[in-house]
Amino acid sequence: MAFPENFITELTDRNDIVEVVSSYVRLSKRSGANLFGLCPFHSEKTPSFSVSPDKQIYHCFGCGKGGGVINFIMEVENLSFPEAVEFLAKRVGMPLPEETNDRESRKRARMLALNKEAARFFYSQLSTPAGAAACDYMRQRQLSPATARRFGLGFAPDSWNSLTDAMKEKGFTEYELADAGLVRRGKNGGVYDTFRNRLMFPVIDVRGNVIGFSGRILGEGEPKYMNSPETLVFNKSRNLFALNLAKKSKCGYIILSEGNIDVASLHQAGFDSAVASLGTSLTPEQARLLSRYTDQVIIAYDNDGAGIKAAQRAIGILEKLDLKVKVLRLEGAKDPDEFIKRKGPEAFRKLLEGSENQVDYRLRQVTAKYDLSVDEQKVDFLKEATELVARLPGTVERQVYAMRVAAMAAVPENVVADEVERRRKRLLSSARRAEDRQQARLDRAPPSGGKAMHYADPASAAAEEGVIRLLYLEPGLIREPGLPPPEEFSSPELGHIYAAMLEKLRRGETANTATLSEALSGEEMSLLVSLLQKPELLNRSGQSLRDYIGRIKERRDEAGQAGDLRALANRYREKKGYEG
Ligand code: GTP
Ligand code: MN
Repeated sequence: MAFPENFITELTDRNDIVEVVSSYVRLSKRSGANLFGLCPFHSEKTPSFSVSPDKQIYHCFGCGKGGGVINFIMEVENLSFPEAVEFLAKRVGMPLPEETNDRESRKRARMLALNKEAARFFYSQLSTPAGAAACDYMRQRQLSPATARRFGLGFAPDSWNSLTDAMKEKGFTEYELADAGLVRRGKNGGVYDTFRNRLMFPVIDVRGNVIGFSGRILGEGEPKYMNSPETLVFNKSRNLFALNLAKKSKCGYIILSEGNIDVASLHQAGFDSAVASLGTSLTPEQARLLSRYTDQVIIAYDNDGAGIKAAQRAIGILEKLDLKVKVLRLEGAKDPDEFIKRKGPEAFRKLLEGSENQVDYRLRQVTAKYDLSVDEQKVDFLKEATELVARLPGTVERQVYAMRVAAMAAVPENVVADEVERRRKRLLSSARRAEDRQQARLDRAPPSGGKAMHYADPASAAAEEGVIRLLYLEPGLIREPGLPPPEEFSSPELGHIYAAMLEKLRRGETANTATLSEALSGEEMSLLVSLLQKPELLNRSGQSLRDYIGRIKERRDEAGQAGDLRALANRYREKKGYEG
């Protein structure tokens, strides 16, 4: 039985891998983001079985097994894919879907098509007389026509039915419009346009699908924004505005801001890695999404109480995923947009370059809590501040911050420095020693475990792995021309993984460890998970993909020629034997 993709997604969301694995393996936290335990698939005395809560995968450094939560249940309970799905559905009390996959995915595809048409409609309205109001507003906010094009901004006319009529003309029904959140039902049973007289921001996912909309009022008024409701294709907590653009940035970090206008304005000023969460505070899912594209996030939230609170929350969420975090202090402006308008892009760039890291930020938060002219409070401040500094990994870093803390509290530097080191020793003692032992053991183990793949053609296989990794991380690449057919892969295992991914992606579905569990064998899943652990830069993903494809073709040609030569040599030998 085939399951709808969103059913599988919900299933894996609700069955957290850490919780599921924990009923089979005792997991404990070590350094970094992963948990470790004794592998259930081979016998061992020291733990080399790791579970990544952020990636929602497991991987054994000892035997090489790996996969997602569904795959784990298949292996550990010895179940088929549908059985494992049923098992996990029961575990969280989810009813199994009765409808077939086809119907669900057709519905999804229709909704995406409708959203795309709606975005086109809104965009086209900008060049009508009615759209002049929106153009005026964009001018007033200094958003250029090029920015409007880049983001696909548009205008929802001040009318109850203009979108409805236009979409009906394109063959969409009122039901479909209502499901997509583009219309609402009135008391008399009719429908009316949800978005009216608003500047429209389409929300586009990393594959380039229009999944929803955010509409800003032209000027002042309430509500300032209206967003699409949650739909079959739109989940606010799992997407970020403008990540479709920001993921292509070459700058190496992502700027996280709050407002759609801030994002548009940042991109226009050349900061092309800006994104915003969709009207909610940052969620762990969004952070996980970010961690696929960058290892550093710079927070540029609004310069007010709510912004500071939100930033602190976001730091916690991002750091859990081992992302480097910096926070911008937008002095003299309420948000990034206003900052750039007032002080110019260069000032913002300086801010980014010098933007304080989270240590500065936290230290400032600690400082703000105490009145340092009161001795008692000074003592508490020193306690908290030295604890913070003691946790910093670098010696120089600790010294620098110890000096800063000393200056703040007006106490001798060596007093603070000694206290920091004392606390550090305490922190390091038992827990850390255990960790180091564990780390040393892992360092000795081969990276992908005892069952490392032996490829017939390692050079080609490395490129084949690269293609798979890129498609996994950036599914939009499926539209790139020149993707080789799976038969051209030198490794049959990689070829099969690749074929399974192509099939999903070409149908517009997701290819991840959950959705691929059915198509891949346990070994293939393990291979996939281990190749995903290798780093892949995504800022020039199109070029990387072409390079990988080029290398595969090159190796094939060489192998082909070598084959020809061997054949020639054989023929020559035969001939000689015949003559001699
Ligand atoms: P301005 O700078 O004021 O023009 O707007 P902005 O785009 O920077 O947005 P702002 O910082 O005010 O709000 C941040 C985000 O919160 C917006 O992008 C919206 O997603 C969301 N938001 C703001 N106001 C509302 C509202 O009234 N309703 C809803 N649902 N979301 C809102
Ligand atoms: Mn703003």
